[in-house]
Amino acid sequence: MDKELKIVICGGGSTYTPGIVKDLLDQRQKINIKELWLYDIDEERQNKVALIVKEVIKTEAPEVVLKVTVNPKEAFTDADYIMAQMRVGGLKMRVKDEQICLKHGCVGQETCGAGGMTYGMRTIYPMVQLIDYCEEYASKKYWIVNYSNPAAIVAKATYKLRPKARIINICDMPVEIEARMAEILDCKLEDIESDYFGLNHYGWFTHVRCKGVDVTDKLKEHVRKYGYVSEASMNDALLKDPDWVHTFKNSALISSMFTDYLPNTYWQYYLMPDSIVDYMDINNTRGMQVINGREKRIFKAAEDIREGKPVDLQQFYVGVHGKFIVKVVESLIHDERSRQLVIVPNNGAIENLSDDATVEIPGYVTDRGVEPVRVGSIPRFYKGLIEQQDACEGLLVEAAIEHSYEKALMAFTMNRTIPSSLVAKKLLDDMIEANKGYWPELK
Ligand code: NAD
Ligand code: G6P
Ligand code: MN
Repeated sequence: MDKELKIVICGGGSTYTPGIVKDLLDQRQKINIKELWLYDIDEERQNKVALIVKEVIKTEAPEVVLKVTVNPKEAFTDADYIMAQMRVGGLKMRVKDEQICLKHGCVGQETCGAGGMTYGMRTIYPMVQLIDYCEEYASKKYWIVNYSNPAAIVAKATYKLRPKARIINICDMPVEIEARMAEILDCKLEDIESDYFGLNHYGWFTHVRCKGVDVTDKLKEHVRKYGYVSEASMNDALLKDPDWVHTFKNSALISSMFTDYLPNTYWQYYLMPDSIVDYMDINNTRGMQVINGREKRIFKAAEDIREGKPVDLQQFYVGVHGKFIVKVVESLIHDERSRQLVIVPNNGAIENLSDDATVEIPGYVTDRGVEPVRVGSIPRFYKGLIEQQDACEGLLVEAAIEHSYEKALMAFTMNRTIPSSLVAKKLLDDMIEANKGYWPELK
């Protein structure tokens, strides 16, 4: 029998926790989980989510022991695998980021543009602290698999500040897009294999195979017309959300303008920010929609459980988000060498980009971490875009480390969603004011 594992979810109070736990328990033939720990800094919030998690465990695997704590020493002592999903500042700060950007006529988004950089500044040091907890308390062979956003900035900062940390940064968007591709092709997600390059939320699918057969041209034809939406996908839980339908459809515009590859949906924020600003509503930002939707449903379910009312757990089992992170953990445990799209230091994988670029590419997940594939050279348009964004993210990380206002201003100015250094300065000054107590001080 494999070693009995202690698995920790950091950000236990996240709206995604019940879904991830379900997907984890579904794999317990392969993942010999003894104790599942939830760790968060917000005890009250985590306790609510824990009520739902208890129901999930009771239904799926009552033998698994659940522990809930806000004490880092307790949480991380002898931990084997840590799944991180912290939202520093919470959804309240997400809404602030979005609204401040929109007030200045810029894209107001969680991970892109000024919103993403602001969230990055909040998240760098809490993530470094998580690594330090793991280094101090966890099993020597611990792995952190990190979803905490903005993943691109978190990854870059942690490689720089804690280069030896055992952390793998991931994003579910490419896999969610592959799920849409499978729906378009009427095949299974497991049958899809992609070649992909870029940065996180800033990449392109160069080839897609279904059971080994190249289906790239077929997909391009569909995506140019309809985006990543098919009749089948309208039954998918994610597509019940009008915002996501809008996003998946926007890929039609991008892929008919730039025909070489299939785009990540997040290109809409960088390549058509004007249209996105028109679409966004400062009084109903995405963060507000999540507060009034996903978060409300979580809190309502917790309340119902407390009152002894029945709760439909299915509502939390949405999309590939949980399955993907669980698959990465499973590959780490068993040295499966499964091929996943992951965020790694470039180190020559994309030949004509600098080694310290933080790229999202395919890699084989072994028990020693990721073995990235070599992508080769990329054409000038894509290289130019990526170098600009990687420089922007790099400058932001340097600003946080050096406490440099000017580097932060350079980062904001470098971002494609911000039209001028004058707007960048106004945005930065407003973000500094709004993030007192969250940001490192900038001088
Ligand atoms: P949420 O606000 O519902 O949950 C986040 C939890 O993190 C909260 O309970 C909060 O108290 C906790 N937290 C904040 N700071 C912490 C810290 N320092 N240590 C431990 N816990 C802390 O947010 P959500 O919408 O469920 O999203 C969770 C995270 O996952 C966010 O960062 C989000 O951007 C990210 N996410 C990433 C991907 C991806 O593709 N990488 C996909 C989905 C969500
Ligand atoms: C995708 C992205 C994540 C992002 C999430 C936002 O899953 O890959 O990085 O956090 O979307 O979704 P939301 O529903 O919170 O807007
Ligand atoms: Mn993502």
